[in-house]
Amino acid sequence: MAWRKLPFCVQLIALVQLCNCSIDSCPAPCSCFSLETRGLIVNCSSRHLRDVPDLPILTVRLYLQNNLITSVSPGSLDHLVSLQEVDVSGNPWNCDCQILYLKSWLDAVPVQRNAGNLRCTTPNTLSMKPFRNLTGNDLTSCTRAWPIKCKKFFVRDLYLIGLAVVVLILMSYVVRMARKLACRVAVTTGSYCKKALNESYKSK
Ligand SMILES: *[C@@H]1O[C@H](CO)[C@@H](O)[C@H](O)[C@H]1NC(C)=O
Ligand SMILES: *[C@@H]1O[C@H](CO)[C@@H](O)[C@H](O)[C@H]1NC(C)=O
Repeated sequence: MAWRKLPFCVQLIALVQLCNCSIDSCPAPCSCFSLETRGLIVNCSSRHLRDVPDLPILTVRLYLQNNLITSVSPGSLDHLVSLQEVDVSGNPWNCDCQILYLKSWLDAVPVQRNAGNLRCTTPNTLSMKPFRNLTGNDLTSCTRAWPIKCKKFFVRDLYLIGLAVVVLILMSYVVRMARKLACRVAVTTGSYCKKALNESYKSK
């Protein structure tokens, strides 16, 4: 993914804007440990959780096993760019269309994961079926869900482009200010840049 090649600080800034998530604050029901190197171990295992809590961006290891989580809302794990290890086993997964997000996220993230034994619990027709055996036929309602997801990504892209434009405008402003400043310094030593100075007097 090209995203992962961006400098880490740029990812952080963009992510905080996009996902409205924290960088390193521990979600309330979980316990966290800071690593010597940058990052957090987030332990939310065996907490009777029904939903995935708001996870900090710097999560490196994520333990969500043995809870009561049935689904993960699409997009809600995308900001975990530092993740190295995840365990979501021992949850009663509901294999409706939404499970497709978790399944493809687990397939795509380059992390160590305990995913081999993930199984559906509901609906009855898919009970005990391993994730890896799920097919398009099992998830028939999914065609309807795609456009919504696309729309969400489209809005995100627009947001990123807007952010880039704002950064560019700010940068050009800074460059102009720096040039004027350089001219003032030059004037005190009796040299060039009359034009830039005149402009700045006019604007006063
Ligand atoms: C995570 O928390 C659970 C419950 O408090 C505990 O039993 C388990 O040992 C912890 N795991 C890690 C890796 O810290
Ligand atoms: C899942 O698929 C594998 C082959 O890919 C098959 O051997 C296994 O029996 C299937 N398991 C279930 C529970 O359907």
